[in-house]
Amino acid sequence: MSRHDRRFDPNHHAALNSAERAARWQPMRLLQRLDIRPGQTVLELGCGPGFWTFPLADIVGPHGVVWALDVSREMLDALAQRHPPGQVRPLRSELPRIDLPDSSVDWIWGAFIIHEVEPLAGLIGEMRRVLRPGGRISLLDWRPDAVHDDGPPRRHRLDPENVRRALREGGLQLLPVTWEHEDAYLMRAAPT
Ligand SMILES: C[S@@+](CC[C@H](N)C(=O)[O-])C[C@H]1O[C@@H](n2cnc3c(N)ncnc32)[C@H](O)[C@@H]1O
Repeated sequence: MSRHDRRFDPNHHAALNSAERAARWQPMRLLQRLDIRPGQTVLELGCGPGFWTFPLADIVGPHGVVWALDVSREMLDALAQRHPPGQVRPLRSELPRIDLPDSSVDWIWGAFIIHEVEPLAGLIGEMRRVLRPGGRISLLDWRPDAVHDDGPPRRHRLDPENVRRALREGGLQLLPVTWEHEDAYLMRAAPT
């Protein structure tokens, strides 16, 4: 199977901004648990049509930046059609490569993306490279043992223990997380 087989079909982008999804994940509430501050620079991995991008933009405010990275032109077009505020900067890039300079972002946020990217170790190396000293990473992804049956095929999902191991082996320390969900896991990490 090629890594492209795991990619979310951009023709279904509208489903990513549904009211049902907003009720399920409560994006602003979840993001507010992180310590992202006004004026900071956030890199969003696999932004899609902007479900998390808009609340991130609200949190960093007009003096911050949200790099909205996605490989899909259709996804970035769908984001543009929603007229994001000026602090949102679309970035077409194919992970694991991140087309940003070294030490240029304060936060990396990636929701439902890491199971679509290979190799994970390469992505971790790129995340470390672009993070500024004191930077933070937060990743949300599907649990292989999720209670509900929606989401990507279970065989595509990453075991959270394997993700934790890869983060540690990539020179990151795991930070405590109190959020729990029956269908997804959240991780926070920082360079050691
Ligand atoms: C399941 S969607 C999630 C979108 C968004 N994070 C959300 O939760 O609403 C995954 C997104 O990652 C993008 N993506 C998949 N593989 C990628 C890659 N290698 N590089 C950049 N973006 C990628 C897809 O185009 C898609 O927009």
